Amino acid sequence: DKGEYRHYMLKEIYEQPKVIKATMEGRITATRVLEQALGTDAENLLENVRHVQIIACGTSYHAGMVARYWIEDLAGVPCSVEVASEFRYRKHVIQPDTLFLCISQSGETADTLAALRQAKKAGFRAALAICNVPGSSLVRESDLVIMTQAGPEIGVASTKAFTTQLTALLIFTLALARHNGLNAEREADIVKAIHLLPGQVSDVLALDGEIEEMSKAFMDKNHSLFLGRGSQYPVAMEGALKLKEISYIHAEAYPAGELKHGPLALVDSEMPVVTVAPNNDLVEKLKSNLEEVRARGGELFVFADKAADVKPEEGLHVMQIPSVHEITAPIVYTVPLQLLSYHVAVLKGTDVDQPRNLAKSVTVE
Ligand code: F6R
Repeated sequence: DKGEYRHYMLKEIYEQPKVIKATMEGRITATRVLEQALGTDAENLLENVRHVQIIACGTSYHAGMVARYWIEDLAGVPCSVEVASEFRYRKHVIQPDTLFLCISQSGETADTLAALRQAKKAGFRAALAICNVPGSSLVRESDLVIMTQAGPEIGVASTKAFTTQLTALLIFTLALARHNGLNAEREADIVKAIHLLPGQVSDVLALDGEIEEMSKAFMDKNHSLFLGRGSQYPVAMEGALKLKEISYIHAEAYPAGELKHGPLALVDSEMPVVTVAPNNDLVEKLKSNLEEVRARGGELFVFADKAADVKPEEGLHVMQIPSVHEITAPIVYTVPLQLLSYHVAVLKGTDVDQPRNLAKSVTVE
């Protein structure tokens, strides 16, 4: 039931504070991740993990890409991420003591399941699933499971599944990092930031009206570019995927540093550029990328930390996002991009919840 909402997608975007909270509940205290957060066998299985191989498709793959930044940063464990349809059809080397991590909302995605089954033959330490559907094939075939508590996701474009996957992945990363020298102080700092997420996501939802206004600039465009750096690069990818899926506008995501290696040639007044820019040490670099786009007549839409001092100017639209912890920022910055694509799609009159050619669960390859 959509209740007061016009579309399931909008309802699911607005459910995020609640489902993020449900996903953290019972897994963290005020300052630390609980030992039993990943089930009773987890401590033993995580003990000697030397490598993490993440496999997923689509939006879930983007969650995996964010997790790679966290896992290497906080746990210091090498992490590879690959889309399932590529992984399953190439010869791959599985390192000893690998944790094989599949991420899937449905738990029934054919390529993801095939990759897991194939990897089982090659051998790995343990299989962990991050999944939203209890009793799904993925859950049944994995050694460890972290259920996201997103509830049923009806809109074909994934929203709340993604942010709850990220929440689960961050909790997992902390559990793994504890076996790899993460100190209690840093853990407490990040766990406290996780507790702030429901409130921060609500603060971003309050910007909905402004984002709807912004969406008008995209309505008659055929192309767009999404830029991000570091762990916000996969957020840019996810923002671009949402826009193409439901508004049918061609959207491409690039790591901001790649701009001058090619895509800058495309930028003109017909090519809006969306950038996610949290206030971290990469923001200065991002500012110089922004100049390059503006110098070519490109119109820029920047989602930036209030503290980052990005001032609106001619051709530069700034959406101020409340200051958030650098580690949890990808979760918060995803939300305005979901709203942006939603409003563009509504303006264009597309079938938001059932975009053409797409199915909710891809059980055939
Ligand atoms: C995008 C979307 C798809 C899914 C992908 C994987 O909005 O929904 O890209 O993310 O088909 O599905 P799951 O997570 O069920 O394996």
